Amino acid sequence: MKLLLIGPPGVGKGTQANFLIEKYNIPQISTGDMLRENIRNETSLGDEAKKYMDAGKLVPDEVILNMINDRLNKHDCNNGYILDGFPRTIPQAKGLDILLGKLKQNLDSIVVMKISDSLIIKRLSNRRSCKECNKVYNLIFDPPTISNKCNDCSGNLYMRDDDNPKTIQNRLNVYHEQTEPVIDFYHNKKITKEINADGSIMEIKNNILNSLSK
Ligand code: AP5
Repeated sequence: MKLLLIGPPGVGKGTQANFLIEKYNIPQISTGDMLRENIRNETSLGDEAKKYMDAGKLVPDEVILNMINDRLNKHDCNNGYILDGFPRTIPQAKGLDILLGKLKQNLDSIVVMKISDSLIIKRLSNRRSCKECNKVYNLIFDPPTISNKCNDCSGNLYMRDDDNPKTIQNRLNVYHEQTEPVIDFYHNKKITKEINADGSIMEIKNNILNSLSK
């Protein structure tokens, strides 16, 4: 199963990708997670990406396409993958088409997740992640059992640098301007499933799994 998850920042792509990893036994490929790992490891790519990410802007297409090229050529992608947060621009979508052509692969489904900007702001300003294992929580919708501690590994929880009100607004503007056209780009492929992502985590999970089984 080769899947693509598209939606605004904070719509729940990462949260739902975790269920899809389990269901289909395929890796999640999140460009955001890959960039944050580079920042943590203080690589030159991470140093460059951080400037864009902190401002809520997109990292240049060429950097992202090189990263995806390396990742899709790894053996664990042979049986499929979940692309999360990529492609985010038309040049990235066209670059992915070329790459898939070289790999003799096709996408099976594109899941488009939709919610209002006001709900996005509520979800992102209350998101917390574990410093140790990266598990994601929400102080309102999915809180940890013990305040500020990860349920799985007891690691401390932190707020992402780009989850402040100004950067969230910039990310939303960038989404409307540069990523929404990617949804139109894929409509012709007739493998798009549109999901209303305003609901509980488990409701959205069931809606996505149902849409993929059709
Ligand atoms: P990235 O890391 O991809 O961030 P994003 O797209 O902004 O998405 P998020 O990870 O913030 O949200 P999500 O949809 O995964 O939501 P989550 O499941 O965490 O990108 C960060 C930056 O990196 C970009 O701004 C850009 O600079 C750069 N970048 C990355 N990819 C790039 C690319 N391809 N090209 C160029 N630049 C790129 O959920 C959010 C919160 O809501 C959590 O607290 C969660 O618990 C909660 N939640 C989830 N579902 C529900 C629900 N149903 N009900 C209630 N709460 C929910």
